[in-house]
Parts: sequence; C-alpha cells; structure tokens
Amino acid sequence: MIEQIIRFGKVVSTQDKAKELIGEGRPVAVTALSQEKGRGRQGRNWYSPEGGLYVSLLLFPKARVTSIPLLASLTIIRTLEHYGLSNLSIHWPNDVLLKNHKICGVVCERYQDAVICGVGLNVNIEKFIPRLSGATSLRIETGQAFDIDEVLEVFLAKFNDLYEELQLKGLKVKEVLNYISGLGESVEVMTAKGVVQGTVCDIDDDWALLLRDESGIIKKYYYGDVRRLQW
Ligand code: BTN
Repeated sequence: MIEQIIRFGKVVSTQDKAKELIGEGRPVAVTALSQEKGRGRQGRNWYSPEGGLYVSLLLFPKARVTSIPLLASLTIIRTLEHYGLSNLSIHWPNDVLLKNHKICGVVCERYQDAVICGVGLNVNIEKFIPRLSGATSLRIETGQAFDIDEVLEVFLAKFNDLYEELQLKGLKVKEVLNYISGLGESVEVMTAKGVVQGTVCDIDDDWALLLRDESGIIKKYYYGDVRRLQW
C-alpha cells in the first residue's frame, strides 16, 4: 500500500529518485513536475515537459511481480474512466491507448528487492514533438486542463486497491481482457532474446501474453514490445 507521495520539481528521472529511497524499505510514490531524461522502455526517452504526470512507484511485492506493468496499465484505464473517457485499450503490457493514440507508458525495473514501476501519463500536454505524432493527452482529447495532483491521487487510490487485491488474493485477469488490443491478431514481439512472430491467443492467469507460433506451439511472454503485423 502506497501512503506517501514524495514530490520534486525538475529531476533527471523519477526512476532514479525512487531508487535513492530504497533504504527506507517501504512503498512510496515519487513524482516530479518535469524530467530531463525521462526513461522509456528499451532505451527510449520519455518526453517529459511540465504538464505530464510522472510518477515512480517504489514497491516491495511479495507475489506476482510479472503482473505489475499490466496492473499499472489497468489502473490508468480505471483512472481515465473516472474522468469519463472511453475508447481505451491496453497495448500489452505497458501502453495505454486512447482512440489508438498513446496517452500513457509504463516501465518497470527491478532493483534489489524492489520493483520500480514508472508511469508517464500525458495530462495537460498540448503539443508533441514530431517524432511523437502517435501520442495524445487528456487536454488534447477533452479540451480541458486537469489538476495533475488530483489525477495522481485518483491513480494511487485505484492502484492501491488493485495492488492489495493482487498481493492478498491473486487478481483475476478477466477485466484486463476487456481492454487488451490485438487478441487473435498476428504480431511481432520484440523480446530481450530477439523477435518472435505469432498470433496473440490469450493472457494467462499470471498476466503473461500467450502467443501461438506458426507451428502451433503456444509460448508465454512476460515482457516485450508488441507490434501488430496486420491492421
Ligand atoms: C514507455 O512507454 O516506454 C514507458 C515510459 C515510462 C515513463 C515514466 S515517467 C515516470 C517514470 N520516470 C521515468 O524516467 N520513466 C517513467
């Protein structure tokens, strides 16, 4: 359960700030107004001007570490629904899309006995750099400005609910399936070991992606970047 939020102005990355706090041994949320070098997955940068929500959750999970990225994505979906948004989907396991445009990214890093789950949500950003033409924000979609602190409070309350359920009882994957894009589609998964192709058949009980390859063998992936081959 995260009960404390530690706030910064400009930082290099909230992921690093969360690492510095590991000695405290309890879960906290670290947030900043902007990041100089926000980190995305696979060595990418995360565009982090003022106007976004940048938060790193320092967690000491007892169970089901692999489901944390998806748990964070589901929390973002619930948060955006709280604000009346629909047409939301999860691009397994870490991206949340609004009308097929990326509004949020999640990156999880293991560090000693902790997991640092970083979430970047485009809240009040009005314009993206050309490289990010596929991105959107709450502001762009609704025409309104949002109170970022309030969005964070809503997010944390919903995260705590889901996280507690996950730790105590194991969480059912059913709700996530309503939002996963790409079920039944041909995809390419970029894993640490290389690129694999197949058809997405399901999300497993431990929230892994099940992929059927050309020879019909079903394999399980916990991490990776998924790219659709057909639209
Ligand atoms: C991705 O889509 O590649 C994941 C992006 C995650 C960005 C967040 S913003 C808060 C936290 N601090 C970082 O440096 N990265 C994560």
